Amino acid sequence: MDHRDFLSILDLTRAEADAIFQNALLYSRSTPPPSLKSKAVVLLFEKASTRTRVSFEVGVARLGGHPIVLTAAGSQMARGEPLRDTARILSGYCDCIVMRTFGHDRVEEMAHWADIPVINALTDLGHPCQVLADCYSVFRRFGSLEGKKIAWIGDGNNMANSWIEAAQLLGFELSLACPEGYDPDTVILGIARNLGAKVRVLRDPAEAAEGAVAVNTDVWASMGQEDEAEFRQRAFAGFMVDAALMARADKDAVFMHCLPAHRGEEVSEEVLEGPRSIVWDQAKNRLFIQEAIMDFLQRHTRKG
Ligand code: CP
Ligand code: NVA
Repeated sequence: MDHRDFLSILDLTRAEADAIFQNALLYSRSTPPPSLKSKAVVLLFEKASTRTRVSFEVGVARLGGHPIVLTAAGSQMARGEPLRDTARILSGYCDCIVMRTFGHDRVEEMAHWADIPVINALTDLGHPCQVLADCYSVFRRFGSLEGKKIAWIGDGNNMANSWIEAAQLLGFELSLACPEGYDPDTVILGIARNLGAKVRVLRDPAEAAEGAVAVNTDVWASMGQEDEAEFRQRAFAGFMVDAALMARADKDAVFMHCLPAHRGEEVSEEVLEGPRSIVWDQAKNRLFIQEAIMDFLQRHTRKG
């Protein structure tokens, strides 16, 4: 089957991302088209999830399709059935695979063996659905991203990597402040810089936040790094987004977080719950962006 996958932000062209934003806007105002009518989408989770799981399940239903939630633990995958076999089995029943896992090589392997679109619902390397929804949230707030400065404070993790790819695709300026030893992926960063993306990695959160229209952060220990949590709390001292840091940003700046948040660690309660926080909009926009992504992928699927 001729089809497209969505494993990274860079699987889209600029024009395609713009079209997805426009469709997400439409779907936020009325029911999306029934592009998954009589179709099934499997949502395969090897890590925990609240937002991604529920927004995909609701989104599939709103597109007229049937969602099937599968956890690795509850399937034969936990008993050693190879990924390549699972990919071909699922391709026989379903029309799309949404997968959350650890190593990025696992979604790539799934996409290689599956004959249907595969969507990355978070790996250790990237979280493209979240970051596309976050860019859409900035677009809704400010009308465009081009030329704007966005700050990332904290871990150079999967979210930070996808933000770098988004800066490359959408042409905004991205300043990241990460403690030494916690920089983003060097390959993703290198490609973005070689292609002229305006991405800087700094050590000082105030310098990164200076004049930014959006200040982003995320947990200091991601899923799979629970054992490092205590050590990381020390390494990230001084990287909390609080009112003083927000004061360095643009006067209309928003605070962003993909959630779940740890109040009093990467963000203060005051900022998370304050008037500049758009975290609930970000979470809600996941639904519309993912509907637009699934609709886009179905339109690019041809039975061969
Ligand atoms: N932001 C996000 O992906 O949340 P979940 O882990 O709850 O899906
Ligand atoms: N960086 C976080 C994002 C959670 C949505 C993690 O991978 O756990």
